[in-house]
Amino acid sequence: QAGATTEAETFDLVIAANRLPVDKVVLDDGTVEWQRSPGGLVTAMESVMAGREGAWVGWTGQPGDEADAPFHNEGIYLRPVALTADEIAAYYEGFSNDTLWPIYHDVIVPATFHRAWWSAYEAVNRRFADAVCEVAAPGAVVWIHDYQLQLVPALVRAQRQDVRIGWFNHIPFPPVELFAQLPWRKRVLAGLLGADFLGFQRVADAKNFVRACRQLGGWQTKGQNVVVADPPREHRIVRAAAVPISIDTQGLAELANRPETRARARELRASLGNPEVLMLGVDRLDYTKGIRHRLKAYEELLDDGQIAPPDVTFVQIATPSRERVEAYRQLREEVELTVGRINGNHSVIGAPAVHYIHHGYPREEMVALFLAADVMVVTPLRDGMNLVAKEYVASRTDYGGALVLSEFTGAYHELHQAFVCNPHDIEGLKNAMLHAIQTPADQKRRIMRALRRRVMAHDVQRWAARFLADLTGTS
Ligand code: ADP
Ligand code: G6P
Repeated sequence: QAGATTEAETFDLVIAANRLPVDKVVLDDGTVEWQRSPGGLVTAMESVMAGREGAWVGWTGQPGDEADAPFHNEGIYLRPVALTADEIAAYYEGFSNDTLWPIYHDVIVPATFHRAWWSAYEAVNRRFADAVCEVAAPGAVVWIHDYQLQLVPALVRAQRQDVRIGWFNHIPFPPVELFAQLPWRKRVLAGLLGADFLGFQRVADAKNFVRACRQLGGWQTKGQNVVVADPPREHRIVRAAAVPISIDTQGLAELANRPETRARARELRASLGNPEVLMLGVDRLDYTKGIRHRLKAYEELLDDGQIAPPDVTFVQIATPSRERVEAYRQLREEVELTVGRINGNHSVIGAPAVHYIHHGYPREEMVALFLAADVMVVTPLRDGMNLVAKEYVASRTDYGGALVLSEFTGAYHELHQAFVCNPHDIEGLKNAMLHAIQTPADQKRRIMRALRRRVMAHDVQRWAARFLADLTGTS
């Protein structure tokens, strides 16, 4: 339950992320509701913070000139940071999601550069740093998250030499050739180097960062370490290493084992006409997720007559995302056009070829969907980790189902026993889908057993403990 608080409190653990774990929603009658924010960062950090005492600094998801008062929510102290409508356009939709996001995801769509967006990014990062310093107790651990807040580490260090500063990147860090395009590249690197420890999803991401420091910034590097001049001391070492994120495996498995979740999974299948093969995609509606490639492969399999409804059906759940950014608008149009065409050509009455749903679902319903799906299709063109892939595996306590997984996800590096695909290779993707459908059940169970061993042994609490140990130097 949300409860307002007036006292200024300080904490030994402070995390900062662009979004708070809950979004403010103002209803038509003016009443305010707080709903869970979208995305993998919130999924992971919500679990991590549930067992700890700490503060979370972030934006409420609404425009405003003044910050809402801090409040406690499910045991966490939430410290809102205000963003005006102009700042949302320039810092969030602009620099974060139309400049950095494309560069950090292989320039799947072109990046846009505007100096005014950079200024807004600097100003908002400064505001986040001030808020962090306000709630950090002496000697606190400060854990900053993701690409929206890359200047915060140095801005906090400038004010507070007593705190320990870590940063974790939930998305990829680009190869130096792409990062080099960013006109403010050296200032971004200097911002990050304000941290004591930098965590990345893959070894390759950490290496890309260290290489960028050496080649574009002229910093001295050695292995995982970057040497930073730090007067009056001679120098300071910043370490950059891979700490791949995970999920609340136990919580999901418990949910999956509940009789009511299993009953709901059966009910979902029945309402889809009990197809022989239910294929499922679950993503934010983002061009990095390869939704168009997935639909193209599926459409060709239908065109070729290799599969057909009512035996086979596809459920695509696409959460609305960043809807004021042009590339996202275009993606939505293309996906909806494609779904319309596929259904027009291939549906039979009572059995559509694709069920397309443009909204999110509560966790219980997601787990029921995972349990109902015979083939989970995860086809990003680039993705830091992809928690959905791990969630599917964790939910399959029955060892059923099959995972089609893109090589371009962080998850692939842990789950290569899956039905692996290169989503750019449409023939290969079609084959991976068919293979996942046609492989005998006992072989699929063996694969799922291997995938589960990996996911169950590395959960999000272990990830957080490892990050914090790396940060505080106890590892
Ligand atoms: P990203 O962080 O890029 O959105 P991830 O796969 O890492 O991608 O994390 C997405 C998170 O959001 C997962 O926890 C997933 O279960 C959740 N999610 C994604 N789509 C939906 C949806 N349509 N409804 C509810 N939850 C969703
Ligand atoms: C990814 C990013 C997060 C972001 C989330 C949702 O998980 O790593 O930083 O919060 O997507 O995107 P949004 O723009 O809605 O916050």
